Amino acid sequence: MLLGTLFTAVLSIGGMGLRRPDDRSASSTCSPSFLASAIDLPGNGSVIGVAAEIAETPGHNATISFCNVTVTYTHPGWNDTIHISVNLPQNNWNGRFQGVGGGGWATSSGISSLLSPVANGYAAGCTDGGHEPVSGTSAAWANLPDGQLNMHLFRDFAYLALNDLAVVGKQITHRYYGHGPHHSYWSGCSTGGRQGMMMAQRFPTAYDGIYAAAPAINWPVFIVAEYWSQLIMNRLDHYPPQCVLDTITAAAVEACSSRNESFISEPGRCMFDPHVLIGLKANCVGSTVPITAKDAFIAQKLWEGVRTPDGQNLWWGLNPGAPFSGLTNTSCSSGLTNCTGSPFSISEDWIARWVLQDPHIDLQTLTNETYFGLFSKAFQEYNGIIGTNKADLSAFKKNGGKIVTWHGLADQLIFPGAPLITTTKSGTVILRLRTFIGYFLPPAWSIAWAEPVPTLMTLWGLLLSG
Ligand SMILES: *[C@@H]1O[C@H](CO)[C@@H](O)[C@H](O)[C@H]1NC(C)=O
Ligand SMILES: *[C@@H]1O[C@H](CO)[C@@H](O)[C@H](O)[C@H]1NC(C)=O
Ligand SMILES: *[C@@H]1O[C@H](CO)[C@@H](O)[C@H](O)[C@H]1NC(C)=O
Ligand SMILES: *[C@@H]1O[C@H](CO)[C@@H](O)[C@H](O)[C@H]1NC(C)=O
Ligand SMILES: *[C@@H]1O[C@H](CO)[C@@H](O)[C@H](O)[C@H]1NC(C)=O
Ligand SMILES: *[C@@H]1O[C@H](CO)[C@@H](O)[C@H](O)[C@H]1NC(C)=O
Ligand SMILES: *[C@@H]1O[C@H](CO)[C@@H](O)[C@H](O)[C@H]1NC(C)=O
Ligand SMILES: *[C@@H]1O[C@H](CO)[C@@H](O)[C@H](O)[C@H]1NC(C)=O
Repeated sequence: MLLGTLFTAVLSIGGMGLRRPDDRSASSTCSPSFLASAIDLPGNGSVIGVAAEIAETPGHNATISFCNVTVTYTHPGWNDTIHISVNLPQNNWNGRFQGVGGGGWATSSGISSLLSPVANGYAAGCTDGGHEPVSGTSAAWANLPDGQLNMHLFRDFAYLALNDLAVVGKQITHRYYGHGPHHSYWSGCSTGGRQGMMMAQRFPTAYDGIYAAAPAINWPVFIVAEYWSQLIMNRLDHYPPQCVLDTITAAAVEACSSRNESFISEPGRCMFDPHVLIGLKANCVGSTVPITAKDAFIAQKLWEGVRTPDGQNLWWGLNPGAPFSGLTNTSCSSGLTNCTGSPFSISEDWIARWVLQDPHIDLQTLTNETYFGLFSKAFQEYNGIIGTNKADLSAFKKNGGKIVTWHGLADQLIFPGAPLITTTKSGTVILRLRTFIGYFLPPAWSIAWAEPVPTLMTLWGLLLSG
């Protein structure tokens, strides 16, 4: 954590120049008892404890001083213990609350993710959803002591804890400053983007504005699709070193980037066939490796998407130009030989632990039939909880909500071909939504934990001003 030294409330208030309408001092407002009295959790949520202390962190130019609040609570009967963190800047509060999202399996990326919004004047909050902020695996919390799946924590991760955060974050903000917040926003990428979309769909009055980058919606199904190129490599028993796949990417970019750019602006129009590269020598550290028909086949399959032998399309592919290293990763134990698959851990975890409910299964043994069957199984069991693909956002729109979202066309993990809203086949819904959704497809971008980058920040500001 990058967080600075913790100061007690008494030590730090001197000279901070606090100006609040009711002139309360930080020592009385940044206190557990004062803030706890404001908390009214949704449903039957029950507070276990509240901690609050003035803390400091080095900002861009000057030390930033804020009230560091942690609310610990449970949903009775669910045996969960959830921590909400809210950090409230002492000076220059901009009147707004910002909820900050997580990544992968992590409901939030930890409280260091609040520092930047706090430095920018927001009261900011995040929730751990009842588990440690570990992105790559749910191993630590997926199962109850008796081995059953912990569906309560799954629901916390999928949606419930997210609304608790919005409600409690705003209550604490209001209590601390004595008014507001006059606007509340969500900000997140990947899982954080999915969480933003979830808020718009299921809790449409919680946030006024939602920044949902590379939203990992359709989770149950697309995470299964993330294993596709590993399945292909397993079937072929052929695992190319990454330098071979990088060479294929470079050739695709060269063939399809019209303006001498290092990326493909319109991947949908890229008809590049990797089979033309067979025999060409890939540049690998210190040596060259000829590209084979199997290498080309693997690339083609990742780009094409998941297709059953009878021609059914089960999911979209990645775009040519996106790095193979995310989903078609391999590792070689001796230089460029003796390679094996290195699947994306979230996909392995999801398939084994949640869809097959067999954490010890060796996924290399998955047959085509079993793999294709996972798509409907995962959809049936989990879409209603975490699919986050409800097309009707009218309640959010009616409440004046606005969304900014983007999906990098070179995303190496989440398939950008999947339309933003997929439960409708009618393009008109998307068109209508454009009045309050800004949807961008920046071609050169892969997935990244991103705070709103400057360009989008400007668009965001335009959309949300006032
Ligand atoms: C804020 O409080 C949490 C929980 O007590 C603690 O882990 C964290 O270090 C605190 N942050 C700072 C900057 O002191
Ligand atoms: C830091 O200080 C410089 C010079 O005073 C100023 O131009 C800049 O806007 C400040 N940056 C922030 C983030 O406050
Ligand atoms: C609320 O309490 C009831 C009865 O104790 C329980 O069945 C239910 O699961 C609880 N709901 C939540 C969201 O915790
Ligand atoms: C409740 O959760 C605790 C901590 O995660 C665990 O040790 C305990 O076994 C759980 N109790 C039940 C009934 O599942
Ligand atoms: C293409 O880019 C390369 C490297 O940036 C540059 O050397 C070359 O002149 C460019 N060609 C054209 C036609 O712009
Ligand atoms: C690819 O797999 C190797 C070996 O497991 C790992 O060290 C590396 O981080 C992976 N690369 C990516 C981009 O995930
Ligand atoms: C090949 O990989 C296997 C397992 O990863 C390892 O046991 C074996 O020693 C490796 N062989 C060589 C020649 O590196
Ligand atoms: C499994 O599916 C892949 C991709 O469609 C295909 O190339 C392969 O022949 C299939 N294998 C079997 C045994 O059906």
